Amino acid sequence: MATSDMGAPYHVGIIMDGNGRWAKRRLLPRLAGHRAGMKRMLSLIEHAFDTGIKELTLFALSTENLSRPKEELDGLFDLFRLYFTQHITPLCEKGIRLRVIGDRTLIPADIARLIAEAEEKTKGGERALLTFAIGYGGQQDIVAACNKAVSEGKPQTLESFAEKLSTGGMSAMDLLIRTGGEMRLSNFLLFEAAYAELWFSEKMFPAFSDEDFDEAIRDYRTRDRRFGKLRK
Ligand code: FPP
Repeated sequence: MATSDMGAPYHVGIIMDGNGRWAKRRLLPRLAGHRAGMKRMLSLIEHAFDTGIKELTLFALSTENLSRPKEELDGLFDLFRLYFTQHITPLCEKGIRLRVIGDRTLIPADIARLIAEAEEKTKGGERALLTFAIGYGGQQDIVAACNKAVSEGKPQTLESFAEKLSTGGMSAMDLLIRTGGEMRLSNFLLFEAAYAELWFSEKMFPAFSDEDFDEAIRDYRTRDRRFGKLRK
């Protein structure tokens, strides 16, 4: 699992939290918050790759989110359908490969199919990697990797274990941003974010601007990443 030793973060993750509260404050239904979140996400993806980020991993739906009311989930699933049908061509044009991590048996089969098609369509993208975590739980992913290791029946190294996670082949996370004011990881990339720098924003995700993203990157550049070692 390689980690950036340059000043710029190579792999950025975002926990896109606060859509519901953004909507509530405007007396709108929660789904309006998710729609606004999707609109913001589309621009932010473009912006992040334009600034040179190589890997962007976005937490779209956790395993635990799947127990939300049916109406909210159906609305989110419609947004996923929209995304995976209408927003894939621009990724191909920009050389961005798409990957989705999470348990696809937990989401509607038609969305799992659209995801597989989108991954296939973008698989040649070499400029950057965009990953969505959907139906994803970091603890569940670690348990699944342990089960693979058990069936292999031999001791694991950090590297061989990391390859068994659904993020196998991706870089370790350099910078993890969470919007929405909460300061927790909520079961996102627990193994992969071991040495990630953390940035928490009070802004709800639909209000998290490109400039806010740039501020997080600027702050990241000032961090002294020692990975547990002494300063050089
Ligand atoms: C968390 O906010 C956000 C989600 C559970 C959904 C995130 C989805 C998007 C940004 C839209 C589209 C995504 C894709 C991949 C097409 P919350 O509802 O928990 O907010 P709250 O904490 O204010 O209630």
